[in-house]
Amino acid sequence: MAGKQILKMTINYHKYLALLSELRLRIESLKLYGQPYVSATEINNPLKELICLAGEDVEEEIISKQLEAENQSSSKLLLDNEPQSGTELTSNHKPPGGLKETLNQLNGDSLDQIGREVAKCRKCGLAKTRTNTVPGAGLSSAKLMFIGEAPGADEDKQGEPFVGRAGKLFTNMIEAMGLQRNEVYIANILKCRPPKNRDPEAVEVEMCKPFLKRQITEIKPRIICALGRVSAQTLLKTKSPLSTLRGNFHKYEGTDLLATFHPAYLLRNPAAKKDAWNDLQIIMEKMGLTDKR
Ligand code: URA
Repeated sequence: MAGKQILKMTINYHKYLALLSELRLRIESLKLYGQPYVSATEINNPLKELICLAGEDVEEEIISKQLEAENQSSSKLLLDNEPQSGTELTSNHKPPGGLKETLNQLNGDSLDQIGREVAKCRKCGLAKTRTNTVPGAGLSSAKLMFIGEAPGADEDKQGEPFVGRAGKLFTNMIEAMGLQRNEVYIANILKCRPPKNRDPEAVEVEMCKPFLKRQITEIKPRIICALGRVSAQTLLKTKSPLSTLRGNFHKYEGTDLLATFHPAYLLRNPAAKKDAWNDLQIIMEKMGLTDKR
């Protein structure tokens, strides 16, 4: 006879408290924009566990609704966000894109898929003012990934990152490194243009961050180059000025990250180009690109 099985579950308090704050932040911002759902594809696995903890039958419903979703195009995980009713999760869930997309997510993401989700995203107010989303562009296996702040007017019109005046200077910078634009990956913290190119708001960054995180996970760059203050501070989770952040490597979730000036800043302050070039040379050295030029 088999002995009595003892099951033990260890709880990582810090992890779940952090996830709870993330969930809370999301729900607050969904409330703010009057959006009654959150896309299931953007919930990471520990957060899903948390959702399951919130309601025993959620998972069962999720599975049956996933099957249903094969015949339906769009779907959402409904949240009860009535102002006074707390943040109870309902089990009315159908994943966006149906079962195939959900399986893709479980088996690994793709940049195209992330781009499609970005195009449909309405998680913050920028969805109302954008012309096009600008998910990012470049080589999916790039060793070097540049991350800017947010699309400007030209990028919003064309749906491509860094295509305006600053983009031209940026392309020259890449080529000066001995690379082509299509050999690197270029993305932004925000995928939509903030009106009048104002700084991104915290809630916009929070809503957009999961897309960038997924892009980085998919590309697995050897080096990330953060362009400008907003990008550097967001990725490094700090308020330190760019002047103290640039010039040497930091880590972004295990990946080497170097911050430098934003090309738009360099257009306004050409004297800083020398320092930016020094930064790029640090990257080139790490990548063994110094001989290629
Ligand atoms: N500035 C950015 O930060 N990103 C762009 O794509 C264009 C301008």
